[in-house]
Amino acid sequence: MAKAAMDTLQLSCIQIAIALLLLTQAKSTTEDTSPLHPNDTSISCIADERSALLAFRAGLSDPANLLSSWKGNDCCRWKGVYCSNRTSNVVRLDLRGPYCKNGDQTQVLAGNISSSLLGLKYLRHLDLSCNRFDKIQIPEFIGSLHKLRYLDLSMSMFIGRIPPQLGNLSNLQYLDLETYSYTSVDSSFHSDTYSTDITWLSQLTSVEHLDMTGVNLSTIVHWLPVMNMLPTLKFLCLRACQLRGSPDSLQFSNLTSLETLDISGNDFQKRCTPNWFWDLTSLKHLDISNNGFYGPFPDVIGNMTSIVELVLSRNNLVGMIPSSMKNLCNLERLLSFGNNINGNITELFHRLPSCSWNKLQDLFLPISNLTGSLPTTMVKSFSNLSRLYLSHNKLTGHVPQWIGELTKLTTLALDSNKLDGVIDEGHLSRLDMLKELTLSDNSIAITVSPTWVPPFSLNWIGLRSCQLGPRFPTWLQWQTHVVSLDVSNTSINDMVPDWFWIAASSVVFLNIRNNQITGVLPSTMEFMRAEAMDFSSNQLGGSIPKLPINITYLDLSRNNLVGPLPLDFGAPRLRTLVLYDNIISGAIPSSLCKLESLRLLDLSRNNLNGSITDCLVNETGTNMTGLSITNLSLRDNNLSGGFPSLLQKCPRLIVLDLGHNQFSGALPAWIGEKLSSLSFLRLRSNMFHGHIPVELTMLVKLQYLDLAYNNISGSIPRFMLNCTCMMQTRFNTNGLQNAFSSRVLADENELVDYTENLTVLTKGQERLYTGEIIYMVNLDLSCNSLTGAIPAEISTLVALKSLNLSWNNFKGNIPENIGALIQVESLDLSHNELSGEIPSSLSALTSLSRLNLSYNNLGGKIPTGNQLQTLEDQASIYVGNPSLCGPPLSRRCPHPEPIPGENDGDASDDLVSFFLAMGSGYVMGLWVVFCTFLFKRRWRVLWYLLCDSLYDWVYVHVAVTWSSFRGKING
Ligand SMILES: *[C@@H]1O[C@H](CO)[C@@H](O)[C@H](O)[C@H]1NC(C)=O
Ligand SMILES: *[C@@H]1O[C@H](CO)[C@@H](O)[C@H](O)[C@H]1NC(C)=O
Ligand SMILES: *[C@@H]1O[C@H](CO)[C@@H](O)[C@H](O)[C@H]1NC(C)=O
Repeated sequence: MAKAAMDTLQLSCIQIAIALLLLTQAKSTTEDTSPLHPNDTSISCIADERSALLAFRAGLSDPANLLSSWKGNDCCRWKGVYCSNRTSNVVRLDLRGPYCKNGDQTQVLAGNISSSLLGLKYLRHLDLSCNRFDKIQIPEFIGSLHKLRYLDLSMSMFIGRIPPQLGNLSNLQYLDLETYSYTSVDSSFHSDTYSTDITWLSQLTSVEHLDMTGVNLSTIVHWLPVMNMLPTLKFLCLRACQLRGSPDSLQFSNLTSLETLDISGNDFQKRCTPNWFWDLTSLKHLDISNNGFYGPFPDVIGNMTSIVELVLSRNNLVGMIPSSMKNLCNLERLLSFGNNINGNITELFHRLPSCSWNKLQDLFLPISNLTGSLPTTMVKSFSNLSRLYLSHNKLTGHVPQWIGELTKLTTLALDSNKLDGVIDEGHLSRLDMLKELTLSDNSIAITVSPTWVPPFSLNWIGLRSCQLGPRFPTWLQWQTHVVSLDVSNTSINDMVPDWFWIAASSVVFLNIRNNQITGVLPSTMEFMRAEAMDFSSNQLGGSIPKLPINITYLDLSRNNLVGPLPLDFGAPRLRTLVLYDNIISGAIPSSLCKLESLRLLDLSRNNLNGSITDCLVNETGTNMTGLSITNLSLRDNNLSGGFPSLLQKCPRLIVLDLGHNQFSGALPAWIGEKLSSLSFLRLRSNMFHGHIPVELTMLVKLQYLDLAYNNISGSIPRFMLNCTCMMQTRFNTNGLQNAFSSRVLADENELVDYTENLTVLTKGQERLYTGEIIYMVNLDLSCNSLTGAIPAEISTLVALKSLNLSWNNFKGNIPENIGALIQVESLDLSHNELSGEIPSSLSALTSLSRLNLSYNNLGGKIPTGNQLQTLEDQASIYVGNPSLCGPPLSRRCPHPEPIPGENDGDASDDLVSFFLAMGSGYVMGLWVVFCTFLFKRRWRVLWYLLCDSLYDWVYVHVAVTWSSFRGKING
């Protein structure tokens, strides 16, 4: 449940969710457990009950052997079985699984619940919670265990209708039916259990505790009158029950004993006042969060003088909290995030309870649109304050010194505001109990003496984008119990001290990215506790040691790391490894194949060489079932050899970038079969030769294919007809999106979001696409030796954004219906041998922003209309096609329409031919250079970087020269 809720929360809400979890954990009090089973050898089990237990056990499956103690005669000694010390009857069966606590799905009971339980006639307490009974209904016979006072069936994967027979349990005091529910991607709500008629509840005349969290009650309109039949209720939780109606009032309220009411996560969508629950002035805990209540914060809150905890988060409440809240002398926790308070923080503080005794401990007001500066003197209500969350507001000014007087403070979270100024020892030196300090994303400088020893030992340090540097903050060395440390972007420009690695060895989420930290990674890194580390964009040198054993996410990109990759990575759980932009050399070791959980590997822009190991051969003895990798980038290295055959073992691959290496040989036919998930294939700037294999047809998810700058020959197979992703203008980007951004909960305050930076050549420039790459649909076959005609079917790839077939030997006409490529923004067919007329459908390409048809044998009149006239560099688009005529070229067509103001065409025609000739001569020269470079590898990389800007330069050069000459002649 908590996990599902977390998933639906947005990035900025993660911290809030964590905090809420902490709070709810703090709130959930332990139930009354008086052990009835003493260690008294005199009592022993009743035989019939023992048989009943054994029959019950026989129906269960117990993979983790949780019931291993269920043997021997005295069933009163079995785990979870408690007998009466008077009668020896089994009175309590407590088989709550550890699953809810540790999430370990194997530590559960499963299977069926046998009706033999009915043999336990004196059972008063039955707890089967937190197991996984395989999708069965709650058995109806449980309603016949008449003596039951306590029944907990929560979170055990029951499904279906809640049996109304439970209404027969008239002695029941405690009933927990919490069920798993979640919001799916399309934001529809799912729940495993439901009830369409809850009148049976009114028979539970003794019930004090009723929890139906997650049970689908969406068909029940009059649920409140049923609850009102239960005058004994003290605790009522109807969280996420899909309830719709919340009556304005309850005329005769029976709910006078109610202390806790949680109706959060329903769908009431009504004004916050009037509402029936405001009349329940006996309430101590009220949670109405996430219900679509709107309107101002109601004044009637002030009547709830018993209230201890008030949760109003995630509604659409607006305006300042009412001053009547001053009366809430028992208030310990006020939680309201995501409401639009839109007011001054000082005014809000003055409306908090101000009683002689003051109990306020938690003030949780993130994302509330709070403005103004924190008051300069301490607010009286804060003398007992333990947690202060004001993250994601618009607070300005300094952090006042009185913060340092809140000696009971355990959490101070002021991140994502507009605070500035300095925090020094005065703020921090008395906060002995502080555990969480989160000041990220403000303009705060933390200035403490290098010899300062903090009084606290923090678990959570979030100082992203604060000013800590330039020296490494020495006070961190005393923080040896940190779980999450984020000092990214804090202007540290220093050598990493040895003590840092000692302090950091306990950290689970470690983020020091974007500083100027020098030094080397410690050889003891494998002993660190880290699960996620981001050291990117620093100046760390040295080689990469063996990785921490638990690590799942590691980003060391943009450093100065050298040497080979480790021969043994360790790190069996590693999912994301980002090492681009370093100076890592040597071959890719075969140990990579042991990283079976790896999803994303980016080694681009290093100095790796050699061919890719084929683990199938090298890892003798291990029976490789295949790697889980979805995203592999080896771009910009010196890798060689054929198309890596290892990839045959990577069936989940979605993104493959081998661009700018020295791979050679033919493209293997198995790509189509073995890499069927491939969406993005970039082999640019290698030395692949041979034909484009027809088997690429099978890559139906392909939406990005870049084979430019190779030596590929033959004609274009008609495979594109099959690339559905290039054919659908609206396609599902989820898979690709996941492949590109591998997310990790690195700080639990923030999602560290790795989005691969990819340069995509389109519109003639290398453009850096981050994130939006998934919307790129691209076909680039430029600079190869392809021949034949451009297949007419190309016009079916209507989702194409960029099509580049330039610098090949294509012949024949431009397909007539090229205008069907309505999304195309960049179309380059230049430097081929295309002939015939330019199809007039071209003018239908309204998205077009770059067109290049130069240097072909096109003839006839240039089409006009729409976008075509607005393109930049009109003349260069068509240059090098001696038979083209009409505007924007000055060559007239054989039967020209009279163009007003154009009177010295002959002279300019001559000049144009002259400069065109000059232009093509120039480009011819470039082509020669290009071919030379093709074989001098070292120059190649540089060349390609320049390549496209040079094309542009040539066009611009020709065009400018031409027009300036024309200007001279005309003027
Ligand atoms: C109960 O007895 C067992 C051995 O018979 C012993 O290990 C255990 O510690 C005792 N428990 C208590 C609570 O005395
Ligand atoms: C046994 O039960 C009686 C009442 O049923 C109770 O008073 C007594 O404390 C119990 N003894 C132990 C050791 O729990
Ligand atoms: C209050 O509870 C009693 C006992 O369950 C019930 O008889 C009575 O109808 C309830 N009153 C209302 C107004 O529902």
